[in-house]
Amino acid sequence: MDVPGFAIVTGAGSGIGAACAIAFADEGSAGVALFDVNHEGLLKTQQTIQERLEKRTRSTSRADCRVTVHVVNVQEEEAVNAAVKAVATDFGRLDYVVNAAGIAMKHKGGVAFALTSDWKRILDINLTGCFFMLRASAEIMLKQEPILSAIDGRPLQRGSIVNFSSIQGVAGVPMSAAYTASKHGVLGLTRSASEDYAKDGLRINAVCPGYTETPLTTKDPLILQAMMERVATAVPMARMGSPQEIADGVVYLAGGRSSFVTGTGLLVDGGYMER
Ligand SMILES: NC(=O)c1ccc[n+]([C@@H]2O[C@H](COP(=O)([O-])OP(=O)(O)OC[C@H]3O[C@@H](n4cnc5c(N)ncnc54)[C@H](O)[C@@H]3O)[C@@H](O)[C@H]2O)c1
Repeated sequence: MDVPGFAIVTGAGSGIGAACAIAFADEGSAGVALFDVNHEGLLKTQQTIQERLEKRTRSTSRADCRVTVHVVNVQEEEAVNAAVKAVATDFGRLDYVVNAAGIAMKHKGGVAFALTSDWKRILDINLTGCFFMLRASAEIMLKQEPILSAIDGRPLQRGSIVNFSSIQGVAGVPMSAAYTASKHGVLGLTRSASEDYAKDGLRINAVCPGYTETPLTTKDPLILQAMMERVATAVPMARMGSPQEIADGVVYLAGGRSSFVTGTGLLVDGGYMER
């Protein structure tokens, strides 16, 4: 997949973020920094990666890939700035940033009954947290030399940022106003930011996953029930995606195979948005 450089993945303690971190290590990254508020989850992901590296589960991985753990809340501006800077200094550069940290919530009774506190929390984590990470990373990436492709030696990029939107970044679903607004916002942020730096070799894209089996979608019965109904009736493939299937899209957007792609929202959704 051509991701030989150094990565940060937020939300790496669970679900899709964990799958992304594993995928970077599997595909030959030199280092992966794992960010999350969940320390236990981070350690689990780190251990999984280290076991895979030791066993050479994938021949593309590097035995000397560095995997570091950072308890960071993406809502906290100063903590994000400090952690991103520290990782870039430690690794020597920063090539890929994946902003997977996020939360979901349904408003019982719909938007008329949505709590202001819920609205603010979702926007703070899903949109503002993504902005904090993007800003801190872009500032560093813009100053570094482009990385070369591991496959054909072409100059790739100064850096590549992949944000997490959703099918709810392009369509609305019921009882989900705050989450849907946050994911539309992530797509807007991605498109505008990609224009700012397209000529500087800094690529900024988003992935828009469909219904994917992770703790986010399975731990809340209200979310799970709504999702199962939609999966049965509205997803052409009539199944949920796996975190690994989303991670494959992310690694594509991060690495050299997508060197002419910026500002896009890649749907990985079992055909949901094509209907
Ligand atoms: N699962 C799906 O169906 C689906 C669909 C579309 C988009 N997404 C998006 O994919 C991303 C990953 O979701 P997932 O399904 O793997 O969820 P998940 O709940 O399994 O993982 C999310 C991770 O984000 C972390 N996190 C939450 N708040 C944080 C904060 N303030 N700072 C740092 N870390 C924080 C959590 O601790 C958790 O480890 C999210 O942005 C989500 O909105 C998921």
